[in-house]
This record gives sequence, structure tokens and C-alpha cells, in this order.
Amino acid sequence: MSESQDTNLIDATEKENTAGKKECAGCQPCTNCPSSMEEQEADEGMDRAQFFRAAFACTAMCWGGVTLLPIFMYLNPPQTEETKSKVTSLEVCKLSELPKGTGRNFRFGSFPALVIHTDDGQLHAFKAICTHLGCTVQFRTDKQDIYCACHGGQYDPSTGKNIAGPPPKPLPALKAEVINDMVIVSRV
Ligand code: FES
Repeated sequence: MSESQDTNLIDATEKENTAGKKECAGCQPCTNCPSSMEEQEADEGMDRAQFFRAAFACTAMCWGGVTLLPIFMYLNPPQTEETKSKVTSLEVCKLSELPKGTGRNFRFGSFPALVIHTDDGQLHAFKAICTHLGCTVQFRTDKQDIYCACHGGQYDPSTGKNIAGPPPKPLPALKAEVINDMVIVSRV
């Protein structure tokens, strides 16, 4: 093929494109070409499908989170101060250091506790956290009761029962016993 024939071919292609843009010469993008329009519509369809797929995935994840989180929290409850404490039993003092009619505050792992040697010779121990608003309670030797100084709550020293003031319920009990003359307090 001669050089002049090549030039004529290129001119013919350019003329067709410039004249009507009806046919694609295969060498340039053509927006009026029917095949390009179909591709464009197909692309828009893909975009819409991708959007709906992404929206569905987001909704599914949110729904899953909202539904599964409470179940997860139920199965793995957050650790409270009490459950974090590893202490199950503790030597508080010698029995001779806790005469009848007295009480002693001490720490039982992560929370305050109280052991009382009542006049009848019995030992009683409780978690020393007021059931009203959580202040630390103490044994009063003059009144022979367990007292919360925050709002005047009172508890029975033998049972831990709330007997006066705002506390709504008894103090949680611990187990108190004497082993080898030592006062031992344990979880019940
Ligand atoms: S906190 Fe104990 S009586 Fe209110």
C-alpha cells in the first residue's frame, strides 16, 4: 500500500467521525455511539446495585450490633468490684483482739467489711457498704448497732437487717468463725 493510500484512509475515518459521530472508528471514545450509551446505563445500574448492597450491609451490621450486644453483655457481664476481688477468706484478727460488744472494720479484697462480736458471744460479719447510697457503715459500741453516718441508717448487728433510716434492704452477710483463736471471715 502506498503512502498516499494510507493518508486517504485516515482522512476518511476522521470525516466520518466529524460528520455524524454515528459510527465508532474504534480509535476514539464516542458518546453518541449506541454501544457506549448501553455501557453507561449498565455502569449506572452497577452503581445503584453497589449502593443498595452497601446500604443493606450497613443496616445488617447495625441490626446485628444492636441485637447481639445485649446478648454478649448478658453472657459476659462487666466485672464489678466484688466479682473482681479474688479474696474468698481472710484472717481478720485474734479473737482476744475482738472483745464482746465490739466490732472491727477491715477490707475484704476490694470492698469494706465489718465483723462484730456481739454480747451473746456470737460473731457476725457483713459487707460494710450501706444499701442506701453506698457509704461505709460501722459498729457503734454505745448503741450496739451498725450505723451509717451519711443519712443515719441503722442495721441490726446480729442479722444485718435494716432497722431505721433510709436503707432499703439488709447488709449482705459474710461468714464469720474462729479457727485456732483467729477470727476468719469468708464469703457465704
Ligand atoms: S448512704 Fe447510708 S443511710 Fe444513706
